[in-house]
Amino acid sequence: MNSTAPGSAPAVSPDNPCPFLRALVAGGHLSGHLETLSNITATVVAASRADAPETTLPGPVVYLIAMIANGLSPARLARSVLKGAQLDALRGGPLDKRGAGSRILEVTGGIDEVELARLDQFAADKLDASGVSERGLGIEQLRIMMDANFARAAGKRRRIDRRLMQGEWPILLRVMGKTSTEGPYLSLSELRTLFVERRLPQRIAQRLETR
Ligand code: HEM
Repeated sequence: MNSTAPGSAPAVSPDNPCPFLRALVAGGHLSGHLETLSNITATVVAASRADAPETTLPGPVVYLIAMIANGLSPARLARSVLKGAQLDALRGGPLDKRGAGSRILEVTGGIDEVELARLDQFAADKLDASGVSERGLGIEQLRIMMDANFARAAGKRRRIDRRLMQGEWPILLRVMGKTSTEGPYLSLSELRTLFVERRLPQRIAQRLETR
């Protein structure tokens, strides 16, 4: 599963359920296995750095998230600090909501097309900066979607899962949001590319080229 054919994008483990990290691994920016916390932090921060300073994510927060991602025991935390986080062993960890998320990524690493199409139920028509209309999710639409994801997981969810979502979709909006007259939004077509092809939009990928 982790072998890479010459010239092809690195394979990404099904046990990495984060669409953003999956794109960073597939793009060759992060190791899909063991990666130092400092490199994860620097890469994620670089990907978030745009002209507007408010998109840039705070390094210490990213570091802390990466530090706890594989487990909270003292031995695991020490291993993460000294050796790095294992990005192919995130399922079952403290950040794994075990089905309380969008459910777009299956546990086998495949895409659930029904769940991906479901995003459109929450989306609205948005006008991008060049005046082109497309379907997208602004912060209000994301809030309704996250509430719906949390509600349908009743009985299987932890109370912290709704809080964890705040660190996922709204952060993706901050990093990858396109500009419209009514504020930033996540383009549904770019989300499809992110989840299915594990590829960041060119304007985000180029932030990593100069790193
Ligand atoms: C140290 C950095 C990070 C770690 C360790 C991490 C880890 C994870 C994990 C374990 C999940 C799965 C949660 C679930 O069960 O749904 C997840 C989901 C998610 N992550 Fe990350 N993540 C990191 C950074 C980021 C960043 C910077 C973004 C956005 C720019 C992001 C966006 C998302 C989104 C949108 C989801 C939800 C996917 C869904 O509901 O289908 N993550 N992340």
